[in-house]
Amino acid sequence: MPNIVGHNDHDPVITESDALHARAVGLQPPVTQVLAKGPTQYVNGVAPKYIARGEGARMWDVDGNEFLDYNMGVGPVTLGYRYPAVDDAIRRQLESGITFSLMHPLEVEVSELICDTVPSAEMVRFGKSGAEATSAAIRLARAYTGREKVVCCGYHGWHDWFIGTLPPKAGVPQGVQDLVSTFAYNDLASLEAAIDDETAAVILEPMTFDWPDEGFLAGVKEIAHRHGAVFVMDEIWTGYRWALGGAQERFGVTPDLTTVSKGMGNGVPISALAGKAEIMRVLDGTVFFYSTFGGETIALAGTKATIEVMQAEPVQEHLERLGNRLRDGYNAIAADKGIGHLTGCKGHGARSLVTFDPSGGDPLHQKSLVQQELIRDGVLWSGFHTMSYSHTDADVDHTLDAYDRALTIHAQAAEDGEWLGRLRGAPVEPVFRATTGFNTKPKER
Ligand SMILES: Cc1ncc(COP(=O)(O)O)c(C=O)c1O
Repeated sequence: MPNIVGHNDHDPVITESDALHARAVGLQPPVTQVLAKGPTQYVNGVAPKYIARGEGARMWDVDGNEFLDYNMGVGPVTLGYRYPAVDDAIRRQLESGITFSLMHPLEVEVSELICDTVPSAEMVRFGKSGAEATSAAIRLARAYTGREKVVCCGYHGWHDWFIGTLPPKAGVPQGVQDLVSTFAYNDLASLEAAIDDETAAVILEPMTFDWPDEGFLAGVKEIAHRHGAVFVMDEIWTGYRWALGGAQERFGVTPDLTTVSKGMGNGVPISALAGKAEIMRVLDGTVFFYSTFGGETIALAGTKATIEVMQAEPVQEHLERLGNRLRDGYNAIAADKGIGHLTGCKGHGARSLVTFDPSGGDPLHQKSLVQQELIRDGVLWSGFHTMSYSHTDADVDHTLDAYDRALTIHAQAAEDGEWLGRLRGAPVEPVFRATTGFNTKPKER
C-alpha cells in the first residue's frame, strides 16, 4: 500500500520514481530542470523523485504515495494545486486558443490588475520566468541611466548578468562578470562600498529569511538614488505572498522597478516587470524585450484568476497565520527537546526556513535526518515552509506532530553524534544558493 499523510510504519516505496530516474541519468544532465526539485535536495533512496499529481496542499508521487507539500512547486503554487477558480479560467481560455497572431485582451487586463495591486506599478510588461523579468529590469535600468554596472543582493535567476556573481559561473564572459558586484543584506555600509556613480541599478530581494532592519530598505533606496541608480525590488518570492502588494506594501518602501513572478499565477509560467512610467517608457524606444510567448494566454488567464481570488479573499493573511504557527511551533518543539541551540526556524509566515547549527554535526546530515523522518510521515520538506491558501490548521497540526517525532530522533543523534548511521539513504547535498552573505565583497573597480 502506498504511504499516506499520517504516521506510516515504513518509508514510501519509490520503485517507479527510481525507474524514471534511471532513464533520466545520461539523458538529461543533471536530470532536473529545477535544482531545488532535483534528487540532490532529498535523501536519495528514501524520498520520491517524480510527482504525478496534486490537489490543494497535497501531492502524489508516481508510486501513489501521498504527501503534504511545503515547497508548492518551489513557490508559484500560492493558492493550491488544481485550485478551481484558476483551473476553470484556464479551461475556459483553452477553449478559445493558446497563442495568437495579434495581441490579446488579457495582456491589458492583467497589466491593469498588477497596477491595481503592486504599489510601484504604473506600467507593466510580461515574461515567462523570473530571470526574464530581472534581466529585462537590468537592461532597462542600463538604457535609462546610460550606465553598465549593477549591484545586487539576493538570487535573481540563471542569466549571465547575475550568475556571473556566483561560484557556478562557467560560460559567463569575464566582461559581464566584471560589471556586477554584490552587497550584504542589512548592511548599508557594504552597499556604500559596492556602489559608485557608474552604477545603473541596485537590485535586491527585499527579504529572504532575515527581517529587514528598521530603515534598511529605505536606506538602499536613498543610496541608490544618491548615486543616480535605478532601485529595483526583486519580488519574485515576496510579491503576492508577503502582502497583496508584496514586500514593498508590507514594509512601506516603493522601488522604481519591481519584478514579480512566482506568487501571482498559481503555477503558470508568468513573470512581470513593472514600475515607474518615466523609466518603463524607455521600453517604447530602443530597448529590446520581446519573446514569442510573452503574451501567451493560458498563463495570463491563470494569473488573472489568481489575482482576483487574492483581491477577494484573505490569502496572504492565511499564509502568514499558518506559517507563523509552523515556525513558532517548530521553535517550541526544538526548545522542548533541548536542541534549540542546534536548530531553529526563521522568516515570514508565508515562507520560512529551518536552519541547523554546525556545532551539532554537519548541517546537511541534520537536515537529511529530519527530512527522512518527515517523509515517513507523509510530509515533503526540504527545509522550507512555503505556504499555500490550501494548507489547513489540521495540516499544521500533523506537521508539528511529525516534527515532534523527527526532532526526538534529531536530539538522540545530537546526543551520540551518530547522524549518518541513522540515515536510510544518501544525505542531501548543498545548493549553491546561500541565503545570506554570499560573495559580498565589492569587486575591484
Ligand atoms: C528572487 C528571485 N529572483 C529571480 C528568480 C529567477 O526566477 P526563475 O527561476 O523563474 O527564472 C528566482 C527564482 O527562484 C528568485 O527567487
